[in-house]
Amino acid sequence: MHPSPVTPTRSASNGLRTVARTLGLQLRLVATAITVSLGLVAVGQVADAATAMVKVDDNSFKCMRQMAQVRHFYVDNLLGDVMSTVTAANAPKGAIYPVGSVVQLVPTEAMVKREAGFSPATGDWEFFELSVNDSGTKIGKRGFAEVNNRFGKNCFTCHVPAREPWDFVCETDHGCEPIPIDHKMTGALQRSDPRCGPAVPEAGDTMALLKLRALVTIGATVSWFKSLL
Ligand code: HEC
Repeated sequence: MHPSPVTPTRSASNGLRTVARTLGLQLRLVATAITVSLGLVAVGQVADAATAMVKVDDNSFKCMRQMAQVRHFYVDNLLGDVMSTVTAANAPKGAIYPVGSVVQLVPTEAMVKREAGFSPATGDWEFFELSVNDSGTKIGKRGFAEVNNRFGKNCFTCHVPAREPWDFVCETDHGCEPIPIDHKMTGALQRSDPRCGPAVPEAGDTMALLKLRALVTIGATVSWFKSLL
């Protein structure tokens, strides 16, 4: 018997089909493996956010105007979850800010939300006094209930009336005693943050900064007098 001429062709095409099927299967397996490992990476990241240490150093702070703006202040998140921080800041009845949140009204002061349980008295907020120039940020003072601002006043004491339900964020109507620095002045400071490159002043900024400088001088004089007494 001579094999029919069709047989080898058919078996060749069968072979091809088998190869194609095997390849297809392998591709699907590879695709599944990639999906599974991406999933694992995502799960890993979520787990990280819950347990991660919030590392705060000079490089944690940046040009304020590159942070997310909420009303008259700016927020960021050192663990990458800026959206959750913005959501907390916009919660109409207040909310606990997520771990890693950074809140700033002026370039030289910041609050950073540390790990849960890190500092119960301050709602896990760490207070920072910063110095900034065109080459970046240097942390001056940092800590919890003991940190004072440059006028010698305690951050925590002023912010504590806003503890509930605003998570220590004062704004204008959360129960804190008002400060003599208005939003024209804080806006002028934000627009002239030296870490952002050239200032982008609005009308009236120069006057606002002059007034602020006068206040700072008076503040410094007052605390100097106090230190003499
Ligand atoms: C004399 C009281 C007082 C002291 C001292 C003080 N703050 Fe505040 N802080 C306020 C008030 C009031 C506001 C809200 C101002 C506004 O938005 O009009 C504010 C705003 C802020 C904000 C913007 C978010 C918010 O709460 O509205 C940050 C961040 C902040 N302060 C950090 C600090 C840090 C850090 C220190 C210490 C280095 C400090 N503050 C010291 C009263 C104070």
